Amino acid sequence: MILDELRTPIVLAPMAGGPSTPELAAAVSEAGGLGFLATGYLSAADTGERIARLRELSAAPFGVNLFAPGAATAPDRFAAYLDRLGRQFPLGEPKFDDDDWDAKLERLTADPVPVVSFTFGCPSAQEIERLHAARSEVWVTVTSVPEARIAIEAGADVLVAQGSEAGGHRASFLDRAEDDATDPLSVLALLQLLTAAVDRPIVATGGLITGAGIAAALAAGAAAVQLGTAFLRCPEAGTSALHRDALPIETPTMLTRAFSGRRARGLRNQFILDNPDAPVAYPEIHYATSPLRKAAREAGNADAVNLWAGQTHTLAVEAPAGEVVRNLSAAAKSALNQALSSRIQSC
Ligand SMILES: Cc1cc2nc3c(=O)[nH]c(=O)nc-3n(C[C@H](O)[C@H](O)[C@H](O)COP(=O)(O)O)c2cc1C
Repeated sequence: MILDELRTPIVLAPMAGGPSTPELAAAVSEAGGLGFLATGYLSAADTGERIARLRELSAAPFGVNLFAPGAATAPDRFAAYLDRLGRQFPLGEPKFDDDDWDAKLERLTADPVPVVSFTFGCPSAQEIERLHAARSEVWVTVTSVPEARIAIEAGADVLVAQGSEAGGHRASFLDRAEDDATDPLSVLALLQLLTAAVDRPIVATGGLITGAGIAAALAAGAAAVQLGTAFLRCPEAGTSALHRDALPIETPTMLTRAFSGRRARGLRNQFILDNPDAPVAYPEIHYATSPLRKAAREAGNADAVNLWAGQTHTLAVEAPAGEVVRNLSAAAKSALNQALSSRIQSC
């Protein structure tokens, strides 16, 4: 198990759309954690180039993350939404694609990496078997106990438990409007439910950004933690200037489908507030809003850009990723020691 080899149980969250870079992944792996590359929105060829670059930078283990493909949405489900947006903003083609799924799996089985993780769904047992045969570990991100059971049945080695606090897209296997009436589970609730229900190492993710937060997840049974927002302000990250500057400001985060057609947590802005009823249609809405997000980013308009961030975003620090890993490891250790020595009286 890769988790048993890490010097510190800190995993860099894969962050598609810009923030993930080989430099960021290398810095985290070199510091003793586990670096990750995101492949979402990249072709299989670009994925291969990033893996090659990461290997040049570090010989330490790392992971590669894929979006499991969903199904296309009938155009009449999102036509009215795009008609309305189109009167105000430049839009792109609302196309469906599978994010180059087959070609990426093909590449990863031909040229294996230590860990392959998945979000938005679970690969089939046959697909997991191919990765195992290539000697890769398979991690599947889950948001509930039923999803965890499906992942284990398919052969997942490790579960990444994503709590509702998490920045970016919800990892849920299905994104359904009817589920909006149910509260998504927080990371600690999910961790406790999973450790009681299933027998697999769990990597906790969502809103963890301090040593104390990491200590809480480890104490609740996590084998490691996966941090995204904590690394967004690192110089090695590809985060846009607009996004970096917005993170320290005390703005609430919200779950929204307005930018992509799939529920994601980002900093509240006007575009999210103006579009509370955006349809379930991923990746069609993602592609349709791409030009408007790009134009807003170039104009420095934070009100029409998806600023994905976890609930604890104001605590993200601007520091090299290796330093973030080292500081958080030391702080987690001291938080665990302090809680043990000062808080529990014998009874
Ligand atoms: C900007 C951004 C992009 C993300 N992209 C991905 C991704 O490509 N794949 C994935 O599995 N998770 C992605 N996530 C979710 C993270 O894996 C993780 O669950 C989340 O960052 C944890 O919450 P935190 O940001 O509060 O640490 C993304 C998160 C952010 C903030």
